[in-house]
Amino acid sequence: MADTNLYAVTALFRTPDQIIAAAKGVKEAGYTRYDVHTPYPVHGMDKAMGLPETKLGFVTLAAGIMGAVGMISFASWVAAVDYPQVIGGKPYWSWPAFVPVTYEIAVLLAVLLTVGAMIAFFFKFPNISHPLHDTPYMKAVSSDAYGVAVRADDPKFDEKEVRDLLKRLGGEVSPVEFSEEFRTFRPRLFEPRFLLLLAGVALVSAGGGYVTWNKLMFMPPFDWMMMQPKAKPQTVSTFYADGFGMRLPVSGTVARGFTLYPYTITDRADSVGALMVNPLVPTATVLSRGKQKYLTYCSPCHGNAGRGDSRMNGQFPNPPTLHSDKVRQWPDGALFHVMTVGQNVMPSYQYQISREDRWAVVHYVRTLQRALNAQESDLQ
Ligand code: HEC
Repeated sequence: MADTNLYAVTALFRTPDQIIAAAKGVKEAGYTRYDVHTPYPVHGMDKAMGLPETKLGFVTLAAGIMGAVGMISFASWVAAVDYPQVIGGKPYWSWPAFVPVTYEIAVLLAVLLTVGAMIAFFFKFPNISHPLHDTPYMKAVSSDAYGVAVRADDPKFDEKEVRDLLKRLGGEVSPVEFSEEFRTFRPRLFEPRFLLLLAGVALVSAGGGYVTWNKLMFMPPFDWMMMQPKAKPQTVSTFYADGFGMRLPVSGTVARGFTLYPYTITDRADSVGALMVNPLVPTATVLSRGKQKYLTYCSPCHGNAGRGDSRMNGQFPNPPTLHSDKVRQWPDGALFHVMTVGQNVMPSYQYQISREDRWAVVHYVRTLQRALNAQESDLQ
């Protein structure tokens, strides 16, 4: 091939059957460096040409494994070594949590590297030139003809033999030479002028970004959202003598609409209870409101009727009955106090149940007590 300018001998065919037969013929004649060009995928062509299976699948597999292993290692390092935290009582190295992200990264890397490998290794990017480009042969096979090109660098290549073979197979034979353009083609990717342009673009965009976000935005008038006459949390203040930007509320400050509950869990229910009076009248509305709140918040422990027989029995320090002599003789305020601040293991309910509803619950508990301990006089 050294003394000739010939790239390949090509032949055009008119029907798919002809091209399949031609591909078989060229393969059986023992040529290895040849290719077939058709305007659309022709079924059975891989077999006719005896093409081996593509190696692209291995690239995908390797990239996927790389992604999975890389992600598991990274997640393990983050979760168990660099920033160990107990989350929901689970061990640091809790692998089920890594499954979704490992899967995602494996797929992502497999896809990206497959496309990258295809372009860089299989299509030889950035080489974008080919001797067949712009030839009448290529124009024909991208429109209505089927073609075979046997390359001149095939070890068995002999121009006359190839021509005869292709003619025998029924093709219109024509040689393709390396064009002047192909021989002088150089990828322009690494030309100094192009690299200079790239560097210029990088410099301008990076510099522009830097100036905009680090300088311009801090100059008037662009800084007006940032520079407000106020002290931000955690900042120093020159206005106050102690230098803190954040102020504590004046001691004793309460929010609007807030009524202070003056007693704490250390106050005995029966003694502070006597200092409070239930402000509600036990009407049907109040009782049904109290019943609703009682069934929601109290019955899981104290039972629907307050007998201390709920399903919590045996799983929690047993909630006591609310029908004991002690609780029955307590003033209303004592029940209110227990609900408000809690008592030993019973938690406070002041944030779940409003002040008024707690008093309604007191009325409802009283109703339960009266119902279970009815006096003779109640029946008359
Ligand atoms: C999480 C379970 C639980 C819930 C819910 C609960 N309690 Fe209690 N309650 C207890 C336990 C346990 C005690 C006993 C505390 C102790 O050891 O003093 C108790 C004690 C009491 C007492 C004092 C009884 C006594 O003999 O000293 C009253 C009154 C009371 N609860 C009323 C209520 C009301 C009203 C509600 C609904 C707002 C309620 N509890 C919700 C668990 C609960």
